[in-house]
Amino acid sequence: MTKPIGSLAAAVVAALLAGQCLVAAAGDGIVRCAPVPSMTAEQACEAVCGTAPMLRLCLRTLLPRGASGHDDDVGGAHRRRDVVTHYVGVAARRALDGYAATAAAKREMQYSGALPADERTAHERCMAGYDLAVRFMGRVADDLASCETAARLKDDYAGSLSGMDACRRKLFGYPASPLYGRNLADRNKTMLVGLLSTLVTSPPET
Ligand SMILES: *[C@@H]1O[C@H](CO)[C@@H](O)[C@H](O)[C@H]1NC(C)=O
Repeated sequence: MTKPIGSLAAAVVAALLAGQCLVAAAGDGIVRCAPVPSMTAEQACEAVCGTAPMLRLCLRTLLPRGASGHDDDVGGAHRRRDVVTHYVGVAARRALDGYAATAAAKREMQYSGALPADERTAHERCMAGYDLAVRFMGRVADDLASCETAARLKDDYAGSLSGMDACRRKLFGYPASPLYGRNLADRNKTMLVGLLSTLVTSPPET
């Protein structure tokens, strides 16, 4: 009777070992997904923003109006800690808002009819870049809770940025176009998403 028990025990041990291997392998595969760090918006912005304008954009994006001031802290927002994926999502939605506003401005100019044909064509081509960026950024804004989305962040950010750059190349000949300045601002919003994404994919050592 010891033999069956022995083999049962061996089977259990084998199963446990297999389980451990599985966990270890999965741990290697998803190491960037977990655990997602939590911090305040200010900590997140300060961790990733290298320039004063980017830091201002970041704080404006992540904190409700007035919340970054010392005596004007709306609902204690600047002391609240959140998972960094939340901040990436907020920044992504802000970037999408920027893309939409630029697309609306473009349509308005188109309808005004005052645009020379070549500039009109440049605007159309710029918007093709925006369509691309909307698709990629939409994936970032949609669902950051799942591990796969977090793992895909870098690619989605790169796709969005390449859309912004595609637009910019079409507008190089038209620096006076209102779209040119809008595109630069949208590009910065896109870059902010990329900067904040680095907190998800490679949490800072603490
Ligand atoms: C974009 O960001 C850079 C620095 O990060 C800043 O110098 C520039 O003024 C910003 N441009 C716009 C249009 O916001």
